[in-house]
Amino acid sequence: MSRARIESCCAALALTFALPACSGEKAPAPAAAPSPATAAAQAAASPAAESPTAEDKTQATEIFTQRCTPCHGTQGAGDGPASASLTPKPRNFTDAAWQTEVTDDHIEKIIAYGGAAVGRSPAMPANPDLAPKKGVLQALRMHIRGLKK
Ligand code: HEC
Repeated sequence: MSRARIESCCAALALTFALPACSGEKAPAPAAAPSPATAAAQAAASPAAESPTAEDKTQATEIFTQRCTPCHGTQGAGDGPASASLTPKPRNFTDAAWQTEVTDDHIEKIIAYGGAAVGRSPAMPANPDLAPKKGVLQALRMHIRGLKK
């Protein structure tokens, strides 16, 4: 390395890390400053954004009618027209025993990521567009909870 190259290297290091001199020791890695994008992502995942809004509930009702009833049936009994060919059949959401044993987290996960992702039938499709929409997922879960008989 030429002397000029070493000097410019030192200058760059000094500017970047504010090191006093080229001591030959390894410069400590600068601590990564949190980027604005990371901060925004954290804000989006914060509990403040967790309650479904009226808009979320409206969307959830529409989504349930359009995407879920073909298999799960309008009342969630698992008897939609597309359920006939499925093995296993979609769950009966009106079943009180099932409602008691299933967790909110499981319901929201299977809706967002699909049956295969949680060890259930891959016939239960994923809804990746809903994965970031926590409020809509919660509203869908509440809709399913409301089908209990
Ligand atoms: C193509 C048919 C089909 C569609 C469409 C469908 N599901 Fe499913 N769903 C299934 C099947 C089959 C299972 C049962 C999986 C199992 O038990 O292995 C299931 C399971 C579930 C479960 C979990 C039951 C359990 O005990 O683990 C929930 C909750 C659920 N579906 C909600 C929904 C919602 C909400 C929608 C609409 C966004 C939807 N499903 C759309 C077929 C479907």
